[in-house]
Amino acid sequence: MSLLRISNLTKKYYLPSGKERTVLSNASYTFPNNGLVSIFGKSGSGKSTLLNLIALLDEPTNGVVYFNDENIFRYSIKQKNDYRNKEIGIIFQQPNLLENYSALFNITLPALISEKSVKEAEILGKNLLKSINFNEKLYLKKCKDLSGGEKERVNILRALINNPKIIICDEPTGSLDYQNSLLIMDILKDVSKNRLVILVSHNAYLVNKYSDVVLFIEQGVLKT
Ligand SMILES: Nc1ncnc2c1ncn2[C@@H]1O[C@H](COP(=O)(O)OP(=O)(O)O)[C@@H](O)[C@H]1O
Ligand SMILES: [Mg+2]
Repeated sequence: MSLLRISNLTKKYYLPSGKERTVLSNASYTFPNNGLVSIFGKSGSGKSTLLNLIALLDEPTNGVVYFNDENIFRYSIKQKNDYRNKEIGIIFQQPNLLENYSALFNITLPALISEKSVKEAEILGKNLLKSINFNEKLYLKKCKDLSGGEKERVNILRALINNPKIIICDEPTGSLDYQNSLLIMDILKDVSKNRLVILVSHNAYLVNKYSDVVLFIEQGVLKT
């Protein structure tokens, strides 16, 4: 049984002119169950389109995403919600944090949504923050008072709190400086030891330094 497999995934857009535009074309691949898999390609090559399909944020024109050999697009609404909230964690370039709430609250939110008690969620959140040496004084600071690098770490920990089997990252270091990018990549590398991390990036240096597998995508064609 494979954790994650895509088969003939295709996404087309129909432009107002009536023309059809294929932005992802018959992508097929069986992902390893753990490790850091990067999808590398130029801007506009279809990277986010592919990630959004795996994350159930979009529907394909054709093809399937299999999670534990089940077609995720055929899930019931409850199964879809569980998949998004528990089985995967998503990290976007923009953290989209609740700026007026604390770092700790932001991190624990997905745990609260999946009906963990406040106490349980806070213990999980504090342990995660400790694991990356996040200064304890920062836990209760409002997110709007954190630096860009600190926010990005909160973003990652929020994706990790429900201990998902897959972490999906779309250009997570896109707006960070070099030092903060390395810090984030070190965390992602570390968590990829016992789960699958899928990273989309156009940073060749970081992709080469950290990836176990690199997949290229060019004009919607995934080369595996
Ligand atoms: N709603 C849409 N309608 C038409 N074209 C789109 C739409 N969304 C994305 N595209 C096009 O699909 C292509 C792939 O986009 P995307 O997956 O975001 O690329 P990447 O993440 O690699 O930069 C781009 O050329 C983009 O313009
Ligand atoms: Mg993109």
